[in-house]
Amino acid sequence: MWTSYSLRRCARFVVSELMRPPLQFEPITRRIPAERQGAKRHYGIHPYFTRRPANVVRAYIKHFTQPGDFVLDPFGGSGVTAIEAMLANRHGIHNDINPLANFIATQIADTTYDDTTYIREALGEVQNQCMAQVKAVSSMSEAEVARALGNIGLPENIELPRNSDAARFFDLFSPKQLLALAWLKAAIEKISDAPARGALLLAWSATLGKLNRTFLSARGRLESRGGSSIFSIYRYKLAEAAVQLPAWDVFHERVMNVIEGKQEVLRQKRLWESTRGWQGTFEAHCLDIADLPAAIGRTVDYIFTDPPYGGHIAYLDLSTLWNHWLGFRVPNCAREKEIIVGGELRLTEEHYIKRLRESVRVCVSMLKRHGWLSVVFQHWNVRYFAAILEEATEAGAELKAAVTQIGDTIWSMHKKKNNEGVLAGEMILSFHKGDAISKPRRPQSRGLTTEALLGDTLAEVSPDGRPFAGEALFNQMILKAWKSGALASVDVTREAFSEVLKSKGWRYNSLRHQWFRTLEPAPTDFQFTF
Ligand SMILES: C[S@@+](CC[C@H](N)C(=O)[O-])C[C@H]1O[C@@H](n2cnc3c(N)ncnc32)[C@H](O)[C@@H]1O
Repeated sequence: MWTSYSLRRCARFVVSELMRPPLQFEPITRRIPAERQGAKRHYGIHPYFTRRPANVVRAYIKHFTQPGDFVLDPFGGSGVTAIEAMLANRHGIHNDINPLANFIATQIADTTYDDTTYIREALGEVQNQCMAQVKAVSSMSEAEVARALGNIGLPENIELPRNSDAARFFDLFSPKQLLALAWLKAAIEKISDAPARGALLLAWSATLGKLNRTFLSARGRLESRGGSSIFSIYRYKLAEAAVQLPAWDVFHERVMNVIEGKQEVLRQKRLWESTRGWQGTFEAHCLDIADLPAAIGRTVDYIFTDPPYGGHIAYLDLSTLWNHWLGFRVPNCAREKEIIVGGELRLTEEHYIKRLRESVRVCVSMLKRHGWLSVVFQHWNVRYFAAILEEATEAGAELKAAVTQIGDTIWSMHKKKNNEGVLAGEMILSFHKGDAISKPRRPQSRGLTTEALLGDTLAEVSPDGRPFAGEALFNQMILKAWKSGALASVDVTREAFSEVLKSKGWRYNSLRHQWFRTLEPAPTDFQFTF
């Protein structure tokens, strides 16, 4: 029975909660060095595109939220944000339009069991069923392989994207690879326990990434070390000399990686259980970002996201290798909604910018009042930055910090290219959702030449001629133009950027990936705050 006393207490509590001043945070304004291979739960289990360094994501989550808060990544990819949120005792909400991304994230995040015995037992079952068979594939004759392939279930031999070296799905494999993979998958599918089956399918899916003709061995290293062209040049390029890795050994190694990653996850969970209590949760959605607010039906405390980059990476096309054989259907309507330029549907830059704008608006709408939004972004196209900055501001979020994380992107790939035009450091833009809708920033008509903007910014980034990374200068130029309301009128091409710098007496050093004028000791670590 409610007494008037308890009603009064309840009302006082509700009023005090409503009146409670929002937690105030100073934004992160300095670079957090990336620990690239730091977490086994993210590195080595399964490849994915542009995976963010877990320690950086974790630092942002811990800075902007409290245990029990809701953290969302609407472009979640392989799940780094939502998994780190869960392991920091928050509620991690993951979304990605790509079923492969959700499969990877969900399997890593699964904590149905308290230890990894279930994976080892399931591996034992698969071993009994097919290890001898799979190991024998390498010594089978062509005719034997062809006969065996006729007796095993294979996915449909669908067409591949037009820019692939291979016309059809089966052209991506040698017959022996196809057979070994099919036998492994058939054995895994017989496992009745769903979490165990999922964990081994994850290992199988990672094996698929190695046992196909797009796999290129890294020069000067073990044949098994290397990666698929899908993740380096973002298309199905077939290796000139096919690499035939031993299927069972590759699979076994992938299972061990899954076990190691899972052990980390479970250790962290146990740590919370034995201290402050475990309340971490993980939920996953496979939706176009525009459909997310209705699906999650709530506002969130913090969003950390790494939106798709225009061009280069057609995530759904490139994930066909996995989605198709894993049986994940990707309807055409999902492809039409993918936020990319190009791909099989030849999506335009206008489509990309329009959808990028819409996604920023959706993000701000999903944030609680006084929530924070961190967006990771890097691109030569200033229009893309303008889309993010303008739309966030118009939706009521104010830019509070912009940090250049030099060296966080696929750095080895970048080094291989050794190119002054490659931008290898992202900017992390942090916005705060305020009380009132901010006045939209209207572009000013003031003309600003690239040269003038670059010259002004250079004087700030390297006042004494210290070496600097091109990304740091480029990002400061964007911010400077944004602050002065002239972003819309800026047009910086990578060629103009390099030419102007060279004309000012700067030289690019490809080994250190910095611009030098004189021999100076330390690079600048200049950052803008607002
Ligand atoms: C840059 S990646 C994110 C990678 C992620 N940060 C990680 O650490 O793995 C961008 C992601 O956006 C997804 N995406 C593209 N268009 C989308 C849309 N309309 N709705 C939701 N996700 C989308 C892609 O599938 C891709 O996984």
